This record gives sequence, structure tokens and C-alpha cells, in this order.
Amino acid sequence: MNMPAASAKHVAIIMDGNGRWAKKRMLPRAVGHQRGVEAVRRLVRGAREFGLEALTIYAFSTENWQRPEEEVSDLMGLMKKFIISDLEEMAENDIRLRIIGDYKAFSADVVKLIEDALARTAGNSGTILAVALNYGSLDEIARAAARAAQAGAITADSIEAHLDTAELPPLDLLIRTSGEVRLSNFLLWQAAYAELYFTDVLWPDFTADHLKQALEEFSGRERRYGGR
Ligand code: IPE
Ligand code: IPE
Ligand code: MG
Repeated sequence: MNMPAASAKHVAIIMDGNGRWAKKRMLPRAVGHQRGVEAVRRLVRGAREFGLEALTIYAFSTENWQRPEEEVSDLMGLMKKFIISDLEEMAENDIRLRIIGDYKAFSADVVKLIEDALARTAGNSGTILAVALNYGSLDEIARAAARAAQAGAITADSIEAHLDTAELPPLDLLIRTSGEVRLSNFLLWQAAYAELYFTDVLWPDFTADHLKQALEEFSGRERRYGGR
């Protein structure tokens, strides 16, 4: 496949629409989430193929705890299954796993799986896969500001240096699927000058080709950063 001209290095995705995908087919929401995991797998392969430095995916927000207990538990179960089934492929493909958000609030078994996965891929130097877990921008910025204050200076630079994304390249492109046109508490700081891309495709239907389309549109955009 051809590479876009000015290529994005860091892409983030709000993976939305699993529930509606299932509803359209009169299937349980859990099936939508399962198919969503398959879309994640395709996406990670696409990210490598298109040479992204970093891919950040919104998997569970600080607000998603409000969902029924059964759905939260389905999502946790899928996350565990995904780590167990896909960690080796990611590790062998030089993917570096990162977590943004306060994942330590999850149950002990999930935290252990996550930390083992982080350790397993820590020595890799290829594409970074940053998974947002129990992530909310407002929480992230508040935590970063508190740490910046402790270090002695609340400035934009010092807050930025304490964000969960501090080790990631600047965000180039933020994609949201499912037709919703909002950020839902995702990467608010980092999106200050990111390009935004909204598509009606529901997350379980998202393919590497859809990612390619978004990257191509990105490469045609003119980023001015307030200058002229
Ligand atoms: C996104 O799909 C997955 C998560 C939020 C974890 P949704 O479950 O939000 O699907 P819709 O928005 O109800 O269709
Ligand atoms: C955003 O989707 C969170 C994730 C994709 C993990 P939501 O479905 O939770 O967002 P809202 O409720 O439509 O804003
Ligand atoms: Mg949703």
C-alpha cells in the first residue's frame, strides 16, 4: 500500500459504536465488544504496516464505570483475554505497550496481567501501543498539575511533562468512529493542535483500510498552529 505524503506519527482512536453494531444485528452488546477486539487486532497490525510511531486507543474511560456491572465485567474479561491471546504476537512484532490512565484501580488480576505485559514489551523499540484504561483527561490533567506543583512549577510545560502521555510523540490525528462528534474526556490537552477525523463507521467494522483513508486525509491537511 502507498504511504501518505506527510505521514502521521501518533494517531489516537476513540473506538466507539460496539453497542450499536450489536443492536443493529439484534445481538448482545458483549458480542459487539468481542468484535471490537478483533478490530483492535486489525488496527494494531495496520499501525505497524503504516509505520506509525504511536497508536493510542481509548478502551475504558473514567466514566465507563457507570455502565451496568455485567457490561463492565464483560469488558474486563475481554481485556484479560486480549492480553493473554495477543501479547506474544505484539512482543514479537516489536510493539511497546504503554498504559495511560489509572489502571491500578482495576482488580488485582487485571493489574498483574497488565504489568507483566508492560514488562514483556519494555525492551521493544517499534510502534508504541498506548491503551487508555480508566482514563479521563480531566483526571489526567489534575494528576499532572498536582505533580507539577510538587515539583515546584505549574506551567504548561511542567504539566505536559507530567501527563500520562509524556513519553509519546505529539498527537497528530484523533479519530472517532460511530458518528458521535465529541471527545468524551479523551486527550483534551494533547488534542490542542491535533487534526480531528470523525467517521460514521461503527468500531467493529473499522479496518486497516479505514485507517489508511484517515491517514491519507491527514496528509492533505494544512496544519498552521496559529501562524500563517
Ligand atoms: C465503545 O462502544 C466501547 C467502549 C466504550 C468500551 P460502546 O459500548 O460505547 O458502543 P455504543 O456507543 O453504545 O454503540
Ligand atoms: C468513549 O465512548 C469511551 C471509549 C470509547 C472507551 P463512550 O461511548 O463511553 O462515550 P459517550 O458516552 O458516547 O460520550
Ligand atoms: Mg459509545
